[in-house]
Amino acid sequence: MFKLAPSILAADFNRLGAQIAEVEAAGADELHIDVMDGVFVPSISFGMPLITSIRKESNMFFDVHLMITEPIRYLDEFIKCGADGITVHAEACEDLEETVRELKKRNVKVGVSVKPATQIAAIKAVAPMLDRVLVMTVEPGFGGQKLIPACVDKVKELREYREKFGYKFDIEVDGGIGLSNVKEVYEAGAEVFVAGTAVFRGNIAENVKHFKGEIISAY
Ligand code: DX5
Ligand code: ZN
Repeated sequence: MFKLAPSILAADFNRLGAQIAEVEAAGADELHIDVMDGVFVPSISFGMPLITSIRKESNMFFDVHLMITEPIRYLDEFIKCGADGITVHAEACEDLEETVRELKKRNVKVGVSVKPATQIAAIKAVAPMLDRVLVMTVEPGFGGQKLIPACVDKVKELREYREKFGYKFDIEVDGGIGLSNVKEVYEAGAEVFVAGTAVFRGNIAENVKHFKGEIISAY
């Protein structure tokens, strides 16, 4: 499986609707939506009103990445405004199992993310319940950073772990993904690729097509 999930954090917010329509028409698989609270990560991005607004114009799968402290407080709000998938951070939850159990009661795909320094062991207790594990390939908080190579080894480790136990979650990567490294990260075992800068800088439709081409032409 190869899915591309453009991150709107790198979009031009003045033309957000048009740019979302462009990635969708070009064949992007999901839309990645980065919510930051200025506490769990240093920056603040956007929240429910923006998601509500773009939901009216797009049928894409909304992959909502919550970089917020104690996301359990806001699950219903994010579902109500249009999230199809919600990913919380293992490090941001006082009780990760409880947070995942609450998400599982709702009609949403459930993901857990780990920061670069967090070990795969952090998701062990919830792994059988998950639809997705997001391996951060940069320190969360900002777009436009360089991928940390050690995180690619973590993708390999996670893929082996999943195969060993027969879990069903898909493996997503986020941060510094571009045409120069997408093949390597795919080979390490990732399946869903978030890309902000590499999609929204330059010709958006061409960028989306090039991403897909990198993988399709290689296999
Ligand atoms: C970082 C965000 C990413 C970011 C990726 O905290 O989670 O989704 O938008 O941006 P690029 O692809 O530019 O590294
Ligand atoms: Zn993200």
